[in-house]
Amino acid sequence: MDFKEELKKYQEIINKELQKYVRKENCPEKVLNESMEYSLMAGGKRLRPILVIATYQLFKNDIKECLPYAVAIEMIHNFSLIHDDLPGIDNDDFRHGKPTNHKQFNEATAILAGDGLLNNAYIVISKDLLNTVDKSKLDIKMMVFKEFSYAVDRMIAGEYIDTEYEGKDVLEKYLEYMNANKTGALLRLSVRMGAYLAECEENDFKKLTNYAEKVGLAFQVKDDILSEEGDEKILGKPVGNDKKMKKCTYVSKYGIEEAKNKLDKLIEEAIKELTPYGEKAKFLVELALYVKNRNK
Ligand code: IPE
Ligand code: IPE
Ligand code: MG
Ligand code: MG
Repeated sequence: MDFKEELKKYQEIINKELQKYVRKENCPEKVLNESMEYSLMAGGKRLRPILVIATYQLFKNDIKECLPYAVAIEMIHNFSLIHDDLPGIDNDDFRHGKPTNHKQFNEATAILAGDGLLNNAYIVISKDLLNTVDKSKLDIKMMVFKEFSYAVDRMIAGEYIDTEYEGKDVLEKYLEYMNANKTGALLRLSVRMGAYLAECEENDFKKLTNYAEKVGLAFQVKDDILSEEGDEKILGKPVGNDKKMKKCTYVSKYGIEEAKNKLDKLIEEAIKELTPYGEKAKFLVELALYVKNRNK
């Protein structure tokens, strides 16, 4: 199967799974539920849940066990996007080619939809924990749960730092710290959850964590590049917004060429970590290349 087809297959699995959590009932908060659905089903790439599943599949085949965690991280991701777009943070009007949540609904609804998705992620995980009878498996999942909460904490910290650094020229180590938190933490978590749940060896765990950290940073470098020279129609979100907001990015700090070199280097290093897995890791290798070459 070629990479694009495989990617699509994963996206379909995830969309189908997410759909199960969409609430359609008639109730006073119906519009709030609609606004959560609006963002959750808006057409994201599903990179984080794909990383959970594809990493799991390096070691085990039956992906059922990791699906709740794949769903939960996509909920968190969409919570982060809704809040990221708010007037008080990035003040963006478009995402996924559609009005951002607060533009489509209103600011209060968008704030609460973000809160709702954040909390629903924990509902999904806690239900799975309650349904786990095997004690040793439950111990693993409790560890995953703890790591999950810490990664969300890091993403929030990173978003705070991003707003704090607006208009400032910070040292490279601080730029990396911000990105490792705001974007890297959830991507790292995705891979580590897949690895934990599949009960891989310590050595695999380290290699995969390295892969994820490199891909995580690379992902934000590419996001910064796209914010500078992407095609708004394909990207589905504004181009030039980082500049407008005086964001501290790889592009603002080093220029576009240097940012591209950094991206190439990170992806090359990420792929190297997968050498021992050969053919089995083909999809994860291609996914890293996709992060580098994507135009949306
Ligand atoms: C965008 O993430 C926000 C960042 C962390 C840079 P994605 O590009 O993965 O968002 P989707 O694909 O629209 O969900
Ligand atoms: C988003 O970073 C990171 C999170 C939402 C955690 P950006 O603000 O750089 O991403 P886009 O460009 O709006 O997607
Ligand atoms: Mg932002
Ligand atoms: Mg933004």
